Amino acid sequence: MSYDVYLSAPNVGDLEKEYVLDALDSGWVAPLGPHVNDFEHELASMVGVDHAVALSSGTAGLHLSLLVAGVKTGDEVVVPTLTFAATAFAVKYIGAEPVFIDSEAQSLNLDPELLADFLSRRAAEDRLPAAVIVVDVFGQTANYTAIEKVCAEFGVPIIEDAAEALGATFGDCMAGSFGKAAAFSFNGNKIITTSGGGMVVSNDGEFIDRVRYFATQTRQPVPWYEHEDVGYNYRLSNILAALGRAQLKRLPEFIAKRKSVRDQYVSYFAEHGGAVIQEDAPWGVSNSWLSVAIFDNASDAEKMRLDLGAQRIEARPLWKPMHMQPVFENNEVIGGEFARDIFERGLCLPSLQFCTS
Ligand SMILES: Cc1ncc(COP(=O)(O)O)c(C=O)c1O
Repeated sequence: MSYDVYLSAPNVGDLEKEYVLDALDSGWVAPLGPHVNDFEHELASMVGVDHAVALSSGTAGLHLSLLVAGVKTGDEVVVPTLTFAATAFAVKYIGAEPVFIDSEAQSLNLDPELLADFLSRRAAEDRLPAAVIVVDVFGQTANYTAIEKVCAEFGVPIIEDAAEALGATFGDCMAGSFGKAAAFSFNGNKIITTSGGGMVVSNDGEFIDRVRYFATQTRQPVPWYEHEDVGYNYRLSNILAALGRAQLKRLPEFIAKRKSVRDQYVSYFAEHGGAVIQEDAPWGVSNSWLSVAIFDNASDAEKMRLDLGAQRIEARPLWKPMHMQPVFENNEVIGGEFARDIFERGLCLPSLQFCTS
């Protein structure tokens, strides 16, 4: 279905044209080039980490982060149930199994108390998960103080899925600066886009070198094609990196615009009732990627979605929790009622245009 107002449409202008034309004119079309290197440096410096590798998608970033973190076939990996399926799919690509954990109400992210209970039970059985993926859902960081403490206690590495949260903060730190590594997405609906793309960032240079190695078909540094491991074709092209650099320069503008739209929803529902807009958790500032409304009941949320749709305005339910997905019906879930409830009563509202009619 096409709409007049989309949930999260890309915003591309003259700066993007200038950068992409530069990439084309420079002759660096096939496929890597200086824009890729500059995009990696600029994004790493904005996030406040030392290293980055640009990839073809955020999903590729999660896949290789798990691989390089040492997750193996048959392992288990903790995944918040309230996320986009790519988080859990990346676990399956490794041949590992996601164990889903419910969210807390302040940020809608992984509940540290449920995580602590789960890890202590598993430690007693001597079968800890190989990693915990923490998602910064809808552009809001998770409670890293609590989650890092729990994971450190049990020695389980964190991979941050910051796909939706570029530019968000946790205290003085940026989204993407937690855990062993973090993955961003530049998919078409994200806060900045390369039409499709992603990035893994980390303070560990060897980790990023290994991600780059696997993403570049595991080529060995010899004149012929020599491979000691199975590789992947996961790098971002120079042309798309040029687009990403221009978008990154405009990130503050995008965040400000989306925040002002979210503030208008907050005022609207404060006056009219019927729903509350998810506001920032006390520990950080979200990038306002999507405005999340939680309605008093499920039928009001569905009525609003249909009314907006009739006016050609896109609104969408929250991520359907992973433990409710047929593909994961046999996976373990810890809790799940909170995520189910807000899925049923929640709606993502367009972040770029506010409409009162
Ligand atoms: C939470 C989350 N993780 C991972 C991804 C995957 O990113 P990509 O679409 O770039 O593969 C997305 C978005 O699409 C996402 O929202």
